[in-house]
Amino acid sequence: MQKPAKKLKAVPSPAEWTPTESAELYGIRNWGAGYFDIADNGEVTVCVPSSGSRVSVSVMDLIAGLQQRGLQMPVLLRIENLLDAQITLLNESFRRAIDALGYKAEYRGVFPIKVNQQCQVIEEIAHFGARYGHGLEAGSKAELLIALASLEPGSGYIVCNGYKDEEFIDLGLQALQLGYKCFFVLETPAELPIILQCSRRLGIRPMLGARVKLAARVEGHWNESSGDRSIFGLTTAQIVELIDALRENEMLDCMQLLHYHLGSQIPNIRDIRGAVLEACRYYVDLKREGAAMGYLDLGGGLAVDYDGSQTNYQYSKNYSLDEYCTDIIETIMSTLGAAGIEHPVIVTESGRATVAYSSVLLFNILDVTRFEPGELPPDVPEDEHELVKNLREVLNTIAPKTFKECYNDAQYYREEIRDLFRRGQIRLRSLSLAENIYLHILRGIQTVIQNARRVPAGFDDLEEALADIYYGNFSVFQSLPDVWAIEQVFPVIPVHRHDERPGRRAILADITCDSDGKIDNFIESSGIRKTLPVHACIDGEPYYFGVFLVGAYQETLGDLHNLMGDTNVASVRINDDGTFDVIREIGGDSIADVLSYVEYQPQQLMEQFRRTAEQAVRDGRITLAQRQTVMESFSASLRGYTYYEH
Ligand SMILES: Cc1ncc(COP(=O)(O)O)c(C=O)c1O
Repeated sequence: MQKPAKKLKAVPSPAEWTPTESAELYGIRNWGAGYFDIADNGEVTVCVPSSGSRVSVSVMDLIAGLQQRGLQMPVLLRIENLLDAQITLLNESFRRAIDALGYKAEYRGVFPIKVNQQCQVIEEIAHFGARYGHGLEAGSKAELLIALASLEPGSGYIVCNGYKDEEFIDLGLQALQLGYKCFFVLETPAELPIILQCSRRLGIRPMLGARVKLAARVEGHWNESSGDRSIFGLTTAQIVELIDALRENEMLDCMQLLHYHLGSQIPNIRDIRGAVLEACRYYVDLKREGAAMGYLDLGGGLAVDYDGSQTNYQYSKNYSLDEYCTDIIETIMSTLGAAGIEHPVIVTESGRATVAYSSVLLFNILDVTRFEPGELPPDVPEDEHELVKNLREVLNTIAPKTFKECYNDAQYYREEIRDLFRRGQIRLRSLSLAENIYLHILRGIQTVIQNARRVPAGFDDLEEALADIYYGNFSVFQSLPDVWAIEQVFPVIPVHRHDERPGRRAILADITCDSDGKIDNFIESSGIRKTLPVHACIDGEPYYFGVFLVGAYQETLGDLHNLMGDTNVASVRINDDGTFDVIREIGGDSIADVLSYVEYQPQQLMEQFRRTAEQAVRDGRITLAQRQTVMESFSASLRGYTYYEH
């Protein structure tokens, strides 16, 4: 058990920077959902529900605890309590809405394994979800195996989506015999004959569902998953054929569930309501056709408010969880009630909203590149090129009334000077002087703009051009693939020093040396910005950042770009008294691990290198002692972490 260190610093005077100002700047109270905040000592805290109130732990204390256990940065921190809290919130919100509206059936959630397949995450979901009968959605054979091994028969449902072959279906049918409630959702008409055949062979009647292709289209990044041309699901004609086939085979009693999934991260509640309404029409008619029904599965889509703006922007949502539950239940009640049909069990497959909050990627800053102008000589040398002299003149004329003209002139002269250099007409020193003058001009203009009430049009990218580059010990491709692939915006902030004014602006680069390996979209309470306010790095002192809300989709989609492997993972449980236990540590990939993923055999590499070293001894290039040292270095590197190690 880790005792949190007491770190109470004097609160700065109002004239200085306060943690409250930082909280406002970074918008942590908007996107943190009450789970993350900034304490009076300037450190980011994790706040978890505890016996009716909340208990907080400093992220810096967590980092210290992990380092004392030998876990180096970067670390993926999983906070078990937040997974527990989100499952509880989802189930309790539905329960409250069901009670308040007098709905006559229950809610049963299933977690889609694809959203975070990590063993420990699924174990925790099964554990925390058990009291609500929360189940699992499996989209493949491998995921079905996970579901069967994680859930007890008779507890949470198992919903099988995706393409299913005989092996998949046999296992699902046998699961029914064991007492699992295991639904096969038909995604295509071709699945039915296989299910019928397996069912006859094994003598087990299936629990069937159909995925319907709704006409409703949704806003947001995944809007391609919705509408007539969505890839998955059955068309109305195929649903009618399915019903006819089931009737012919006297299996209408097996048809119990209607499912749709409109795509992830649906930001607008109007779209959610519209889809439920359309699905209810299908449900009513399936029932009228004689299908048993009883379950309505609304898929995923419950969004996470990544930017905290509470709008229908793609990284936000314009509804609360209570509104989500109430709107769904009201829509079902009004549509089915009018048709005199019993209320179905409501199933949702919320993935993102269940796991996003529970993981934070922590990393340290390794280095900084500053775009800071150097000292300028008082005068440009007499024999310097005219264009460089002109550029220097521009610097002298920056003022609130002239800065736009100065900016245009500076850009013109810089381009001309670069052309001269390319043609070999000026020397490197002249170019360097011109670049320095140019940076001075940009800084001068920036100072003028900062005093203006709003950034004038055309100057939005000035901030970006002058921002520092902070190099972080992480890989975007491995730990935040959606940042690269779909420009997903996650909250990123320093996890300490919030009692100091963040006096600089920066973008964050990772250590993959890839031009895409960077984060340059940041959340501030004022909106999405291309640069992030940061503190100046202090020599010899570590500076730590956290990327928050990364529990959904990131871990499994990550790849081995530049052979950066899995990070260290630490799972913590925060106790009621504010202490924490590190309940699991999983070492990140070693270099030998990642090499073996791309089909190298570390032992063979070692042997090849040994021969090279042996030859060097034979040729007299190194001594035997040097051979020994170099072989040890090679072997230590194979065992080492793929990230920057201190
Ligand atoms: C069928 C299905 N259900 C549920 C989900 C999870 O969606 P979300 O993470 O938005 O809850 C997905 C993922 O997109 C899915 O394909």
